[in-house]
Amino acid sequence: MSTAYLNGEYLPLAEARISPMDRGFLFGDGIYEVIPSYAGRMVGFAPHIQRMKNGLEAIGIAHNWTDEQWRELYNRLIASDGGGNLGIYLHVSRGADSKRFHAYPDPEAVAPTVFAFAFEIPPEPQADRTKVKPYKVSTDEDLRWQRCHIKSTALLGNVMHFQQGHAAGNNETILYNSRGELTEGSACNAYIVKDGKVITPPLDHQILPGITRQILLAVLRKDGSIPVEERVVSMNEVHHADEVWLTSSSKEIAPVIEIDGRPVGDGKAGPIWEAAQRLFSAEKYSY
Ligand SMILES: Cc1ncc(COP(=O)(O)O)c(C=O)c1O
Repeated sequence: MSTAYLNGEYLPLAEARISPMDRGFLFGDGIYEVIPSYAGRMVGFAPHIQRMKNGLEAIGIAHNWTDEQWRELYNRLIASDGGGNLGIYLHVSRGADSKRFHAYPDPEAVAPTVFAFAFEIPPEPQADRTKVKPYKVSTDEDLRWQRCHIKSTALLGNVMHFQQGHAAGNNETILYNSRGELTEGSACNAYIVKDGKVITPPLDHQILPGITRQILLAVLRKDGSIPVEERVVSMNEVHHADEVWLTSSSKEIAPVIEIDGRPVGDGKAGPIWEAAQRLFSAEKYSY
């Protein structure tokens, strides 16, 4: 059984308990991260921890852990779960107050709740068009909040969008704003490929600054053989793209082969996807 960390203690996940007065439980008042790890090697530890610190600062949760303390926690969870293909889930909520009151409590009186556990993720994706898991997606207007750049534990909007695709037999839901512009997926960033160029929406309040996105764009720019552009992408462009991709820590770069039942390009994972996944696989541990 999986080991959990909760407020200073390591224990079996099934035995971990929090107060029902925890603001993470009552309000979704917290920040989380998921870091992938294969055979004990993490991908993107430093940028993941930096994003978590940014999120905690954005919502005014004070924490004083050093990067080394976070690393130690991760290493211990990875070791106790056997070090295979693991996602490390880390969660910091504002903590358990004595009353239910919207305003932030005095941080001297209420300490944040820190919770973490490891869970199994699929094996490292291979850059092979014949073996990759292809994604089929639904589309929907993005009805989440205006602060999607914060990796908040309040995920009901994302959950409802994901469920819509899931209920239609799809793997994800791609979202667009009221102007018909692509934002992201319910749990991933989104990209199109047109005439050999990779295009993805710019970072703003409408999307999460994905760490896989950050690493992928850095890898592509460093290599230089596949041009990259960050700009507004219309849904019309999505429907006429040669390739469409999704990225997240647990799936890396996933090729989308069908949108609302219609094939993307020739309905198979594309050559630019394969080249990008190969570059990503070769470089990902150096970020
Ligand atoms: C809404 C959303 N966008 C994008 C991502 C991708 O982020 P990352 O690459 O850091 O996993 C996620 C991952 O959970 C997400 O939930």
